[in-house]
Amino acid sequence: MRTRITELFGIEHPIVQGGMHYVGFAQMAASVSAAGGLGLITGLTQKTPELLSKEIARCRDMTDKPFGVNLTFLPTFSAPPYAEYIAAIIDGGVRIVETAGRSPEAFIPQLKAGGVKVLHKCTSVRHALKAERIGCDAISVDGFECGGHPGEDDVPNFILLPMAANVLKVPFIASGGMADARSLVAALALGAEGINMGTRFIATKEAPVHENVKRAIVNATELDTRLVMRPLRNTERVLNNAGVERLLQIERDRGADLRIEDIMDQVAGVYPAVMVEGNMDAGAWSCGMVAGLIDDVPSVKELLDRIVHGAESMIAERLARIAFNLAASDASIHDPQPELVY
Ligand SMILES: Cc1cc2nc3c(=O)[nH]c(=O)nc-3n(C[C@H](O)[C@H](O)[C@H](O)COP(=O)(O)O)c2cc1C
Repeated sequence: MRTRITELFGIEHPIVQGGMHYVGFAQMAASVSAAGGLGLITGLTQKTPELLSKEIARCRDMTDKPFGVNLTFLPTFSAPPYAEYIAAIIDGGVRIVETAGRSPEAFIPQLKAGGVKVLHKCTSVRHALKAERIGCDAISVDGFECGGHPGEDDVPNFILLPMAANVLKVPFIASGGMADARSLVAALALGAEGINMGTRFIATKEAPVHENVKRAIVNATELDTRLVMRPLRNTERVLNNAGVERLLQIERDRGADLRIEDIMDQVAGVYPAVMVEGNMDAGAWSCGMVAGLIDDVPSVKELLDRIVHGAESMIAERLARIAFNLAASDASIHDPQPELVY
């Protein structure tokens, strides 16, 4: 497949692995890039810029394909040294950065001076337009169904993506709820140039997380996520568990008086407990509604191949048959699992 995104990033498949705290280590990013997608190391999971330099070097040892780094600008108690993280990225020879959380405007001059292409992930058309205006090269449009921070507007991708297509000039990819060949074809139909996936990539053989996490995603239904931190206007979609139930009870009890300090136990230090130790009740960790569509743990290459080949055959066969009134005699035209058809 060739789209403006494959051209921009020099990759084979229009599929990006979004930055994920405590998942986006070198092994994850390298597996996705080696399989023809775009893998991203999650910058801030590395506690210092020096550690990020080492993680970039590790990733480069694992693949000679392009990979990128995610830089998340989220409310934190003490801001990380972003300029130094960016210096580590540029010195490490990485030329693709996914920004998210807040506008990357303050850092665009430094990124551009280093020859970096910026893919900004955001959850509204107005933020996407702003990102385009300040010089971002591409946008990841993140719908309400996404794992992680869906923003406060609650607009799902069936509305958000065509609205983005109506106004954006730079290429964009569809993020949130993407899992399979059908997702890719739908995203392309809605105007996107590819897809970004988070949750789906965690349930892969190579994802460097505890087996309990993969099992939890496979077992989860589309009804098992919850929105937390809404009263703080820092909404996060997470997989429900005992820690999340406690957090939601505190939110109900505190009402409009809720402060971040009230829920510290349920949000701080949760990622290492979940991802490394497999303690599934530790607290709030991001997960998309798409978990309902995930019922296996393939290798990254198997996953990407079946998405891309499934999408190609769906376009060339099922959609072509419908569009051109060709014989629709076989059952596959109604098959809900197109990657099993070809
Ligand atoms: C466990 C997990 C951790 C995440 N951490 C980050 C992060 O640190 N920075 C970021 O920009 N996005 C983060 N995300 C969001 C993903 O990059 C991606 O945008 C999102 O998962 C897309 O929705 P999906 O899960 O439905 O595919 C995270 C998502 C998950 C599931």
